[in-house]
Amino acid sequence: MNNRIPEELIEKIRTQVDIVDIIGEYVQLKKQGRNYFGLCPFHGENTPSFSVAPDKQIYHCFGCGAGGNVISFLMNIEGLSFTDSVKQLSLKTNVDISSYVSGVQTNEASHVSSDKDDMVKAHQLLKKFYHHLLVNTKEGEEALQYLLNRGFSKSMIDEFEIGFALPSRDMVVKFLSGHGFSLEKMYEAGLITKREAADVYFDRFRNRIMFPIHDAHGSPVAFSGRIFGDGEPKYLNSPETKLFNKRKIIYNFHNARLAIRQKEHAVLMEGFVDVISSVSIGVTEAVATMGTSLTDEQAKAIRRTTEQVIICYDGDQAGLEATVRAAQTLQSVGCTVRVATLPEGFDPDDYIRKYGGEKFVDHVIGAHETYMSFMLRFLKRRKNLQDEGDRIAYIEEVIQEISKLTSELEHNVYIQQLAKDVKLSEDILERQLKQVLSRRDSKSKQEKKAPTNRPLAYVSRGKLFPKHLTAERFLLAHMMRNADIADRVKEQIGGAFSNEYHKAIVTYLYSYYETGHEADISSILQHIKDDNIRNVASEIAMMSINEEPSQQELSDYMKQVHIHHKMEVIKEKEDEKRIAERESNYVRAAEIAMEIIKLKQLLKG
Ligand code: UTP
Ligand code: MN
Repeated sequence: MNNRIPEELIEKIRTQVDIVDIIGEYVQLKKQGRNYFGLCPFHGENTPSFSVAPDKQIYHCFGCGAGGNVISFLMNIEGLSFTDSVKQLSLKTNVDISSYVSGVQTNEASHVSSDKDDMVKAHQLLKKFYHHLLVNTKEGEEALQYLLNRGFSKSMIDEFEIGFALPSRDMVVKFLSGHGFSLEKMYEAGLITKREAADVYFDRFRNRIMFPIHDAHGSPVAFSGRIFGDGEPKYLNSPETKLFNKRKIIYNFHNARLAIRQKEHAVLMEGFVDVISSVSIGVTEAVATMGTSLTDEQAKAIRRTTEQVIICYDGDQAGLEATVRAAQTLQSVGCTVRVATLPEGFDPDDYIRKYGGEKFVDHVIGAHETYMSFMLRFLKRRKNLQDEGDRIAYIEEVIQEISKLTSELEHNVYIQQLAKDVKLSEDILERQLKQVLSRRDSKSKQEKKAPTNRPLAYVSRGKLFPKHLTAERFLLAHMMRNADIADRVKEQIGGAFSNEYHKAIVTYLYSYYETGHEADISSILQHIKDDNIRNVASEIAMMSINEEPSQQELSDYMKQVHIHHKMEVIKEKEDEKRIAERESNYVRAAEIAMEIIKLKQLLKG
């Protein structure tokens, strides 16, 4: 069924979606003038250099050079093939391409490549089956009762599609094979286990309350099963599979993303049960990791959606320490962190059950403090500031923390606070801070000297191009927007561009227009298959140019490009001539000298 999707349909899909909406699902975008800006999802950065142009329907990052149209964005961010990206986009339009590609029927399964389709489909079926067992069957009654006793309402159970796995050895094995799934594949998907030697399969989850785990698109990719009697482990999770990577998945991220954007903050928790409770009382921006420390990847995904994060971890020693770790990870990707502290011995779910949602919102989430104020408390805990050793350790630790803040104002505020705290003069503390800062400064300078691996030799940011390259860039920018201009340039200077990237782009452009396409920047970028060349093209497309250039302006650019190109040719000839002379081939040298004179005359004329 996998035929080529006709170009007209791809065009239709591409023009029916808005690149700002699609990228907006991954990157928090702010409008600035004509374009939108945000943090680049393709490289780590703390100041936005990623821009999206709604008029041209393209994006470009001035930091790392990445660029393209909505299809290449999906390909790069999701690691999808071209066809799968088009397929995913088609679901947002009324264009039906199901006769060309397989697996576009359901929204949830659509974003995975066909290899993973089956695994997601099995998760979808199984989660419905588990849910049915919990809410409709006698076998599920005890588990249901456990949940209701714990304070789960019927609607929460439905909303989060909570289910029940029977205490059976092969119920799921039979269910899945009955639906035609390959058991080996289901084993790979982590839904069943098998006996080492023989190919005998068993249910992985037995007699557990089943929580489905979804990826960032809402596709179910794993389960976590809670025991409801005694036993270990409390939660049994799906193993790592092609679909499920604990270090990447953020529980409830798919549902929470919109709320996070609207409320302009996320609330980060330790347990997914805490998230379920919180959502039920209106804290819809709550998300959780899956029992691991927050990873860089997770932090970056959150940062793309919001800058502000409120950490609300369990009120115990482990929770405090995890808060510090998560805060540092979040800060390192540019988030501003606040901390909402729970009373000792409570997690968010315990608190909500005991005191109710309103109290949780007002007295826990609403009472969040800045990271620094949390940190000062954290560092002081279990220290006796009357003790000399403790006191010095405390001062050093606090100064380390203060040094991480970037604003001088903040430095002053906290130095003052610390001075009062430890009864020392601000001068001494300030000197200490300066030392720490200058040590760090010289270290980071050393690091900067090390060569960096830029993916691209062509980076224009902050760089002045020589005149002829600027002219080439302007010409290309105009040619991308106007087929007539491209025609004229082709006639007058052809491929005589001197930069290799420009040469490649101009070649693409000529063939693009020759095959009857209209000027359309997004579509042009789609035709450029080489990432590096497309990135340069997207940067040039982003240049702001005079939309209706005069003949004079264009002629000037062409002249510059032309002259430079001829000069290059002359330089080459001069090299050839020198070689001929060195080889005592004076006849050849004289011939070349004539050619050079002619070329120079042409240039003057
Ligand atoms: P907690 O032990 O704090 O669980 O683990 P909880 O959220 O309070 O759950 P209840 O209230 O006892 O039912 C926090 C997270 O750690 C992971 C899970 O992701 C859980 O949400 N975890 C915990 C496991 O993966 N396995 C375990 O055995 C325990
Ligand atoms: Mn709990």
